[in-house]
Amino acid sequence: IRVLSVTSEAVPLVKTGGLADVAGALPAAVAPHGVAMTTLLPGYPAVLAAIAGSRGKPRAVHTWDALLGTPARLLAGKLGDHPLLVLDVPALFARDGSPYGDLAGNDWADNWHRFAALGRAAADIAGGCVRSGGKPQGFDLVHAHDWQAAMACAYLHYAPFGEAPLPSVMTIHNMAFQGRAGGEVFARLELPSQAWSLDGVEYHGGVGLLKAGIATASRVTTVSPTYAREIRSARFGMGLEGLIAARGNAVSGILNGIDTALWDPSRDPALAARFTRRTLEKRSLNKRALEAEFGLDSGDGPLFVVITRLTWQKGMDVLLEVLDHLVGIGGRLALLGSGDAQIERELLRAAARHPGKVAVRLGYDEGLSHRMQGGGDAILVPSRFEPCGLTQLYGLTYGCVPVVARTGGLADTVIDANPAALAAGVATGIQFDGVDYDSFAAGLSRTVELFAQAPVWRAIQRNAMAGDFSWTASGKAYAELYRSLVP
Ligand code: ADP
Ligand code: GLC
Repeated sequence: IRVLSVTSEAVPLVKTGGLADVAGALPAAVAPHGVAMTTLLPGYPAVLAAIAGSRGKPRAVHTWDALLGTPARLLAGKLGDHPLLVLDVPALFARDGSPYGDLAGNDWADNWHRFAALGRAAADIAGGCVRSGGKPQGFDLVHAHDWQAAMACAYLHYAPFGEAPLPSVMTIHNMAFQGRAGGEVFARLELPSQAWSLDGVEYHGGVGLLKAGIATASRVTTVSPTYAREIRSARFGMGLEGLIAARGNAVSGILNGIDTALWDPSRDPALAARFTRRTLEKRSLNKRALEAEFGLDSGDGPLFVVITRLTWQKGMDVLLEVLDHLVGIGGRLALLGSGDAQIERELLRAAARHPGKVAVRLGYDEGLSHRMQGGGDAILVPSRFEPCGLTQLYGLTYGCVPVVARTGGLADTVIDANPAALAAGVATGIQFDGVDYDSFAAGLSRTVELFAQAPVWRAIQRNAMAGDFSWTASGKAYAELYRSLVP
């Protein structure tokens, strides 16, 4: 089966969050199951620079005189060992800033245009616009990730009359980002007029990119079974709960895996000391190194770490509230994150209030994130919602015990160390209900108590590290889903 995976991010070329880890790992995850996956990315400056590489100019495999009104070309390259297509549209993608906004953090006003163009191109490519030896090189199915790729599903669905539409899978990595624009842009999407409807792109009088994808994809997936259930409710559905419910059995959850070539404590070059679940004692070297790197005191209590985007989703405001409690019960905290400017300022202020106990690094640092997983005792993930979450999976794999809010993928991947789970020898972390002061503080207290019982804590670490969080099962699940849709 030939699958075109359409995404705005993929490791190692462009990343703002977990979407990049997942899209980057997917081609290798499905390959053993007979799926040949090509990835389509927008031509951001970093992506173009990467594919230009040492051999000079990349190969143009197709050009559009006007892709939704703009000249565009398609370049061929590689994403690791797998084929990559890059949509080069200088007017839309050659900009300084993040993939979604300017250097001041404002979203680009024409995001609807940038990502509708990505979807339009994906549909053309899947339909066979790229030719090789005179033959169209089409695809059997399109897999679209998040709002940025969602319009691919709509363009396939509204294929010209008489053409059977190609099947599509829409994966929701985060319901909070929907890609909305005013109704006046509809005319510029070059869709047939019937697409302006409840089961098309129309959303509360405007255009909704994610909404269009959910409405028109053959199947919809999200990145954990619990989040697939949660988004049927108003609390998690962010306005799209009715549509999700209406799509019924077409919506399912497939848990993310992690790339075990990049995340393996026995081989990780970022660590001062590499270790396995049988040589856990070596972690203490990493812990000392981490304390030194962050300028933290050593101590008997646990060294907590946090690695995250600093946003409301991630519960960082509540973390700020419980910091005094965390320090009061003997904990220390090393935090790496970037995002919301106010949260950044407040974190720095909290670190200044607790010298030697709380330390904060603002910014994005892949190597440091590995050192924190390899040296921290416990990773805090107090998310208000979490479609899957990857940092708790890295924590489990590295024996950095996850302390998580019971939601989404966090609920699906961490087994709470309650008395029954401890007795059965299956506990892998600590869960707490609801992201508020009382339950988070109680979760922290419980963690400190468990940490004080060294054999119990070691057992939790070993259980965590014994789990299989690789792509093996989920790669197969995606391949089976694709196969069920291709005639
Ligand atoms: P989300 O995609 O919602 O941000 P995930 O847990 O799925 O959450 O993925 C986040 C990814 O980004 C992980 O790979 C995590 O290690 C990484 N990450 C987040 N913030 C930072 C940071 N400041 N420095 C390094 N890596 C980070
Ligand atoms: C999103 C979600 C996160 C998930 C990631 C990859 O960014 O917030 O929970 O792990 O996508 O699917």
